[in-house]
Amino acid sequence: MNFSCVTFMPMLWIITGFLDGSTAIKWLSLHKLNISWSSGYNYYLCHQAFKFRALDKGQKYYCKRYFETMPYIVSSAKDTSTACQRQFFYQRWNCSSVEKAPNYRNDLKLGTREQAYLSALSAATVVHTIAKACAAGFLQNCNCGPMPNEPPATDFKWGGCGDDVSYGMKVGRFFTDIPYNQNFQLSRSSKQLKQLWKKNRLTRAALSLHNQHTGRRMVADSLTRHCKCHGVSGSCQIRTCWKSLPPMKEISHRLFRNYKRAVEVRYQSNSASFEPLFPLISAPTSDTLLYTAKSPDYCNADDRFGSMGTKNRLCNATSSGPESCKTMCCGRGHYSYMMHVPVTCNCKYIWCCRVECNTCQQWVHVTRCK
Ligand SMILES: *[C@@H]1O[C@H](CO)[C@@H](O)[C@H](O)[C@H]1NC(C)=O
Ligand SMILES: *[C@@H]1O[C@H](CO)[C@@H](O)[C@H](O)[C@H]1NC(C)=O
Ligand SMILES: *[C@@H]1O[C@H](CO)[C@@H](O)[C@H](O)[C@H]1NC(C)=O
Repeated sequence: MNFSCVTFMPMLWIITGFLDGSTAIKWLSLHKLNISWSSGYNYYLCHQAFKFRALDKGQKYYCKRYFETMPYIVSSAKDTSTACQRQFFYQRWNCSSVEKAPNYRNDLKLGTREQAYLSALSAATVVHTIAKACAAGFLQNCNCGPMPNEPPATDFKWGGCGDDVSYGMKVGRFFTDIPYNQNFQLSRSSKQLKQLWKKNRLTRAALSLHNQHTGRRMVADSLTRHCKCHGVSGSCQIRTCWKSLPPMKEISHRLFRNYKRAVEVRYQSNSASFEPLFPLISAPTSDTLLYTAKSPDYCNADDRFGSMGTKNRLCNATSSGPESCKTMCCGRGHYSYMMHVPVTCNCKYIWCCRVECNTCQQWVHVTRCK
């Protein structure tokens, strides 16, 4: 795959085309399309995704050209939605709005902390998925990650098959940044560009690029060494090591810590950089998630902020964490009821070789916010 060809692409589609604050995460809707990406109708399928607004023009170009990677991009979309909702399950904002893609609400459009998290997570998932697909031999243009030059330790050798993070990073940069990165190659003197800056749109573009970059770095930095012993009856005559990535769950968890430490910034057009709104003890780094729009507390439904409120959300009356009724219900109180849930019970071993169970009804206590 030759990534340098990106510079030959038409550069004006952003200005004339559709650009809102959530352009870079619209592709998270890809898994909603009932498309079998393995078939050979590249142009048709990529165009369908474009019409659905799951892909922007640049991504459509990517899709046609690097069609082989599309099934992995699609599963990245699905995995990002799942990981985000799992990570935020016990928070007031629970990431369920990611399912609105490609027509996001304001919680994921205005440049909020939540959007910063999702941008980073989605970019990270692409790198992760592609790097693993390479190692598994599913893609033609990559395979095992490169082996480092220095041996891992004495008596150890590099071997096995490491995840190809560098290829994952290339694909990730290309696919996830493409809706935005052309902007920055255009001359700043363009009148249209100035108008876009005024409308705050390019600020959000730059913000997305930063947060996506942060997500990708998180994956690259998570690459760790694994070793295995080989030899007769447990003797460790040969030891091979390779580098692989932790499960996405761990990366989404690490990004969640960055989410909590995210920094509110303003774009300074004269220095072309983001400046923190409030003085900080330590300056933001490339690992800091940035946002420009304050989030509401997500306690009450409010369309202006894309907040769905926490009415009827599950909560825990006895815990003290974010899932506690006190925090989740924002002081409105909660209600409880008993509910029947099916559980497996009375399991019996039948010789030979199966287990038979019944389904029993169990009463459970459910607590929800008023
Ligand atoms: C996609 O497929 C699912 C399950 O096969 C089906 O329920 C759904 O209606 C389909 N959606 C569209 C847009 O065709
Ligand atoms: C997430 O929050 C929304 C809005 O409060 C709610 O409708 C939805 O059921 C929640 N999802 C989960 C999995 O709890
Ligand atoms: C509620 O929180 C308590 C204390 O943390 C915990 O022991 C209990 O299992 C939780 N209940 C539910 C339904 O999650």
